[in-house]
Amino acid sequence: MPIPTPAELAEFSARRARLLKAIGPEGIAIVPAAREVIRNRDSHYKFRQDSDFWYLTGFNEPESIAVFAPNRRDGGQPAEYLLFTRPRDKAREIWDGRRAGPEGAVSQYGADQGFVLEQLESMLPRLLAGRQQIHYTLGEHPHWDAKLTACVREIREVSRRGPDAPGSFIALDSTLHEQRLIKSAAELELIRKACEVSAAAHLRAMKMTRPGAWEWQVAAEIHHEFERNEMEPGYGSIVGGGDNACILHYKENESRLRDGDLLLIDAGGEYRGYTADITRTFPVGGRYSGAQKEVYEVVLAAQRAAIAELKPGVSSARPHEVATRTLTEGLVALGLLHGDPTELIATDQHRQFYMHGTGHWLGLDVHDVGRYKFDGKPRPFQAGMVMTVEPGLYIAPDTEGVDPRFLGIGIRIEDDVLISDEGPQVLTAGAPKAIADVEAAMRG
Ligand code: GLY
Ligand code: MN
Ligand code: MN
Repeated sequence: MPIPTPAELAEFSARRARLLKAIGPEGIAIVPAAREVIRNRDSHYKFRQDSDFWYLTGFNEPESIAVFAPNRRDGGQPAEYLLFTRPRDKAREIWDGRRAGPEGAVSQYGADQGFVLEQLESMLPRLLAGRQQIHYTLGEHPHWDAKLTACVREIREVSRRGPDAPGSFIALDSTLHEQRLIKSAAELELIRKACEVSAAAHLRAMKMTRPGAWEWQVAAEIHHEFERNEMEPGYGSIVGGGDNACILHYKENESRLRDGDLLLIDAGGEYRGYTADITRTFPVGGRYSGAQKEVYEVVLAAQRAAIAELKPGVSSARPHEVATRTLTEGLVALGLLHGDPTELIATDQHRQFYMHGTGHWLGLDVHDVGRYKFDGKPRPFQAGMVMTVEPGLYIAPDTEGVDPRFLGIGIRIEDDVLISDEGPQVLTAGAPKAIADVEAAMRG
């Protein structure tokens, strides 16, 4: 990831200012970077920064920690944002790549002070003493959990003679994650790019898919479109033909595509940390069969009805209620369920064919942070939230008691939607989803 531009630095700085304000002078926030993960022997998976850390720092190195200490001063200078990094190391940089080091943390990334990570442990007692709350998500970084709790214990032991020990650890949900949930203009620019390129990748998959092609070949086509746009998959791509579409988290992508089958693709590219999340389901041979069309139209109607609910002030539970209702009515109309839709939903019978939720927040994480409920009640939508809308129907090949022409049909349609005062904005509209549009794209 390139060194941030001045405009990007200003954005990261504004985010930090909001966090510092939210945690207040009695708090301190400690946010570790992601760790490098071994893939096999001495090879690592490609490094992906921790989303919270990235959101606040724009710093893409492992073995780093950011500390946010409101109102802290050092030598008369403001010293609220401390970045602890790997040391500069000529030999290691020749082998493994550039390091900013503590100096770069200040000059390139806007930290008030930079240190090497080794210094953090000895600095912790003075950083924590006198702060009431430590904003830190316990349970994700066991090494630092132990160091922080030990440090708090030590401060407590000497507190009769000195400053009070912090009284609580607070997860970052109520501050940082609420902040991350409402996207800034700069974030929306990145999300729009991720969505546009990902939609183009789905279109490309439609154009190249033929009977006899392999799922992994289609996946490669999609990933090529991501990579030529400076992106990578934001999560494991699902490319499932025929019955494989009925496996919700199918990830083998190893089968050959057959004429007459549907292909379900759930794939989204990540740009500068922000991912899209798109699903399209289209016929391998270019034309939907009668039964496929019937099920598809039900899912599409449910998706459109759910998208219409993404407006400020509307309960965030509405899209799922509306989608579930439309799908269940459709299942009854198709003879796949029998009875009164209200009763069927109340007794969860629709879950045989629709067993997942209708959407989730989207951003730096594909299942992005932010609460869905307060006091057990669904929160209302606000402008600036981005959510997926992804109803589906899955009629497993071994389902008993249904018309055999529906067996093995798995359909999901997923778009990414910005909630705005002007109404729902579908950011992934570049990927066709109406039957006529999909078939036209596959012909052309
Ligand atoms: N691709 C993950 C999801 O749709 O939730
Ligand atoms: Mn999704
Ligand atoms: Mn998805």
